Amino acid sequence: MLVLGIETSCDETAVALVEDGTTVRSNVIGTQFEHHRPFGGVVPEIAARAHLDMMLPAIDRAFVEAGATYADVEGVAVTAGPGLVGALLVGVAAAKSIALAHDLPFIGVNHLEGHVCATQLEFGHLEPPMISLIVSGGHTSLVLLDAEGRFETIGQTIDDAAGEAFDKIARFMGLPFPGGPEIDKLGRTGDPTAIAFPRAMMNDGTLDFSMSGLKTAVIRELRRRDAVDEEIVMPDVAASFNEAIVDVLVTKTLRAAEAHDVGTITLVGGVAANSRLREAMADGCARTDRRLLLPQPVLCTDNGAMIAAAGYNRLVAGERSPLTIDADPGLPL
Ligand code: KG4
Ligand code: ZN
Repeated sequence: MLVLGIETSCDETAVALVEDGTTVRSNVIGTQFEHHRPFGGVVPEIAARAHLDMMLPAIDRAFVEAGATYADVEGVAVTAGPGLVGALLVGVAAAKSIALAHDLPFIGVNHLEGHVCATQLEFGHLEPPMISLIVSGGHTSLVLLDAEGRFETIGQTIDDAAGEAFDKIARFMGLPFPGGPEIDKLGRTGDPTAIAFPRAMMNDGTLDFSMSGLKTAVIRELRRRDAVDEEIVMPDVAASFNEAIVDVLVTKTLRAAEAHDVGTITLVGGVAANSRLREAMADGCARTDRRLLLPQPVLCTDNGAMIAAAGYNRLVAGERSPLTIDADPGLPL
């Protein structure tokens, strides 16, 4: 069963064709980095306009790369939320139009569920129970897929997303956008124990995260050192900051797995590319005898294939969305 997946919740215009929820036939990702780079972050209005320009060419390319036509498609899935409303609307309108014109089953998908389902594109159909840490520029969430196949958010950031914290600190350090990969690279040559940055909400009894205190602590430390002419070793700052974030993310993910008695953990989202996070999560899982599923980076970041995979799961379960559904920027899981 070939499903067309469309994703436009943030700044990627992504369209994919996926067979049986697991085999990627095409996965076209139009990035808008250059549109947003001058502003040091994603500008919602610019994202929505860029999606409009990029959507039809992305759909055409997805079909060409898959060697498929609309006659081969048996379902259309689209990210209905959460995300930027203007951006989401472009994908939702495109997907509805295709479903209507070709009389195809249509399903609106939650973006976070999509991220979790990216795992099945590499490791085969999901085997619940499972816990996913979703860490990107837009989210920091722990999602439980319980033994009955239901998705539930069991922890999330109460302020900034992890990627947002990386990007903001990188900007303060004078590094280019997106800052996550820059801090990752710089930090590899630094000492992660050089500066003891705070580990927020580490022992508060919840599975939630807070990133803004850490961000403020880094900025305050850099300003203090600057004021008293104390040496600032940028690789040490990057390594110490990276370590503080990773420490909290890994600790809380393992705690979640323990609390819900889950043996499989997946790590997805743009920040899942972080080398220190991958390493520390792998160590933590090995230590606690858990299985870690780490999809390749192109499946970890926003893409249409993960939406097609999530849509496939729901379509084969007999679910459909009416063509009257709206994009919902705050869509809960
Ligand atoms: O999933 P993604 O491509 O887009 C969304 O935010 O939806 O994630 C992008 C985020 C950015 O904040 C970027 O700085 C961060 O992922 N990122 C990283 C790394 N690679 C990308 N953060 C830390 N280390 C990395 N290696
Ligand atoms: Zn995402």
